[in-house]
Amino acid sequence: MIEPYYKSDDKNFYLLKGDTMELLPQFEHKFDMVFADPPYFLSNNGLSIQSGKIVSVNKGDWDKSEGFDYINDFNRKWLSLVRDKMKDDATIWISGSMHNIFSVGQILNELGFKILNVITWEKTNPPPNFSCRYFTYSTEQIIWARKCEKVPHYYNYELMKQLNGDKQMKDVWKLPAIAPWEKSCGKHPTQKPLSVLTRLILASTKPDAWILDPFSGSSTTGIAANLVGRKFLGIDQEEEFLSISKNRKLEIENSRTANNQRNKIAGFIDKNQLSAFVENEEPNEEIKVALGFCRSKDIATIKHDKTFYFQAVESNNRVKDFPIGILEAKRLVIYSGGRSNPIYLTGLTAEIKSVELKHKSKIIGKQNSETEFYYEVTLDEVFIDDENIKFAINVNSLFDKSDEKNSKLLQQFLPALTTWEKILKSIDNQSSR
Ligand SMILES: C[S@@+](CC[C@H](N)C(=O)[O-])C[C@H]1O[C@@H](n2cnc3c(N)ncnc32)[C@H](O)[C@@H]1O
Repeated sequence: MIEPYYKSDDKNFYLLKGDTMELLPQFEHKFDMVFADPPYFLSNNGLSIQSGKIVSVNKGDWDKSEGFDYINDFNRKWLSLVRDKMKDDATIWISGSMHNIFSVGQILNELGFKILNVITWEKTNPPPNFSCRYFTYSTEQIIWARKCEKVPHYYNYELMKQLNGDKQMKDVWKLPAIAPWEKSCGKHPTQKPLSVLTRLILASTKPDAWILDPFSGSSTTGIAANLVGRKFLGIDQEEEFLSISKNRKLEIENSRTANNQRNKIAGFIDKNQLSAFVENEEPNEEIKVALGFCRSKDIATIKHDKTFYFQAVESNNRVKDFPIGILEAKRLVIYSGGRSNPIYLTGLTAEIKSVELKHKSKIIGKQNSETEFYYEVTLDEVFIDDENIKFAINVNSLFDKSDEKNSKLLQQFLPALTTWEKILKSIDNQSSR
């Protein structure tokens, strides 16, 4: 049993002191998410400019490069130890620059992780280039990967979209470098801003998730985690940085300070957005998915469409609410087969922009149809072809047992509504068979 360097009274913030390579194998806990800001190995005696002064780029002995083989061995070792500490559906974020990020990417692939995105953090206020022989270094890369190729990960799509003015969040994040108020408990030479950590934590975890940082420095990860209701374990070998971390946690135990910090974190639409979000607890909203039928031979054609039609089922001249709940659907997933054949998801999926009930006379090409009314589904973008959702489905796994009406209608008419979570669960069940 490892004695923590520090354990907060609320038991949401733990720090371990020592070499991460030695400590990781000594405990059993599995985490929902990992953020790692490992040494970039850029302490090469170069010079830079900071606040108008010429300064050395050296960060400390832990950041000195001893060549490519050394960097690869180091990354292989910590990444495989950390992988053992991740739940099967967990994701990992690793920040880096050109000095280490190619090595990290290669080793993630080697170890069986699946790379999901490479985020470019574009600093809105980078320091100028001292030598004037290169472009100004103004970005860092952050790789996002999941532990297992086949096990789906969590992504809070809706929240990210909300933070980006109701447009899909891109993989370029324009956020400022660290602000002076973030250093109130002392300075770490490579401290990350809370804005970057808050965004990636909210994107990839649910409330109460456990987050690990194996190179925690001043524990920006832990402070961001606790400010948004997640739990944290950080490891660092330097007393000086652990003490900054502990003081940062003590500082936010005062709820007023915590709220002040939330209000100052960049990257939100207005200064109260994050506090309001945390106060109301994250709505762990289910994403409603409309299942749309398409004959196999027509799949290649609909792939490029931005509209999709559901026949609105009628009885006694009244349009029935079917597909049930179609107006709430946020995503469309296309399936084929059906009734006498097995049903399978085709991999085609798209975000829904709007759904409107229309008479056939208002729809080009459907004027002579026997069906009087259609739901016209307008998509955000054309379909994407997602390999992860190409599989045969047992339709019963897509509905709650209590949802008798929907499942009966599915047997009768095929199209129906489910949730994204249920689709992912069915994939899980399939891949674990
Ligand atoms: C790039 S810094 C992390 C900065 C951090 N993200 C922050 O916001 O403050 C890397 C940290 O890893 C620590 N470190 C390097 N090698 C380590 C090892 N083998 N075991 C534990 N800590 C290590 C260093 O002391 C340093 O604080």
